[in-house]
Amino acid sequence: MSVFMDAVLAEAKKRGKTVVLPEGEEIRIIEATQKIVAGQIAKVILLGDPAVIEEKAGGKLEGVTIIDPKTSSKTADYANLLYELRKEKGMTPEKAKSLALDPLYFGCLMVKAGDADGMVAGSVHATGDVLRPALQIIKTKPGISTVSACFVLAMPEGSPFGENGVMVFGDCAVMPCPTSEQLVDIANASVDSARRIARMSDPKVAMLSFSTRGSAKHELVDKVKKAVDLMKEQGVDYKFDGEIQLDAALVPEVAALKAPCSPIGGNANILIFPDLQAGNIGYKLVQRFGNAEAYGPICQGLAAPVNDLSRGCCCNDVVGVVAITALQA
Ligand code: ACO
Repeated sequence: MSVFMDAVLAEAKKRGKTVVLPEGEEIRIIEATQKIVAGQIAKVILLGDPAVIEEKAGGKLEGVTIIDPKTSSKTADYANLLYELRKEKGMTPEKAKSLALDPLYFGCLMVKAGDADGMVAGSVHATGDVLRPALQIIKTKPGISTVSACFVLAMPEGSPFGENGVMVFGDCAVMPCPTSEQLVDIANASVDSARRIARMSDPKVAMLSFSTRGSAKHELVDKVKKAVDLMKEQGVDYKFDGEIQLDAALVPEVAALKAPCSPIGGNANILIFPDLQAGNIGYKLVQRFGNAEAYGPICQGLAAPVNDLSRGCCCNDVVGVVAITALQA
């Protein structure tokens, strides 16, 4: 594990949060649960059939709560909660009863009801299947209307980039074509993630584009410019600049030429991409060519944390995402 992840695990231990893992019958989730409980990183609730889980675990899982939505006494209450939350959207009592049996919905309803602090899933489900119930049930934090996802990039030792070699990139996994208003939400949420998860003390946000301060004219540039104007109007509590090209955001000498007097001075530590194609490709370029460790996607903007695992995740990835979720709760 990296210095970044060691610090996340240590902080999670102090929090003592409860995280529900709906894919409780999956072996990687069971193995991760054993590590999480042994390391006292979080309290874990596994969803699934206790007999199946214990057989795969090779015995009783001490210190772990196992709940089967099919037999739980809470399922009826959660179905009712789902119906109340979604009746204006066409939810019927019958549909709610059936959806509450789905572990991904059951898990989100547990979080909504305050029976868990956060949820982590995605080892056997696609991103959309994990996020949809969270968007429908948990919804966004007050003051934010866009759910997005950031990645924390931990650069190799000695890297001149980021705060202590750590950078945050957003949005890299949720909003395909954000509007200017949504870009502002993504920037604000990425700063919050940088402070909470990467413990960044001086966030410096670059609102990226292929133009710096009007060097190119295009409607795609106008979208980023408008986002920057909205941030100025909001009076956000962090430094930012845009629209700005990547080199002017990251290299002080280039910033001095292209963006003199930039509030971030070529030292951006948070990069906000103009759309999901750029964000998703961008973090992978840094991960692969720059040998950076990439942690995410970390969902941000939800009223309570829900995080998505890659289907290719390993046991340690699950442990890390659960710890990050505990820090967001
Ligand atoms: N923020 C806030 N609310 C949202 C968002 C959002 N980003 N997206 C949808 N919603 C709300 C909708 O308003 C709707 O609310 P309502 O039902 O109460 O009216 C509800 O969520 C469901 O919306 P849908 O449009 O039905 O949801 P959709 O099917 O579009 O799914 C999703 C949303 C899953 C986030 C979709 O945008 C998506 O698939 N994004 C890309 C995810 C992806 O594949 N990422 C890349 C892989 S990850 C990686 O590479 C690391």
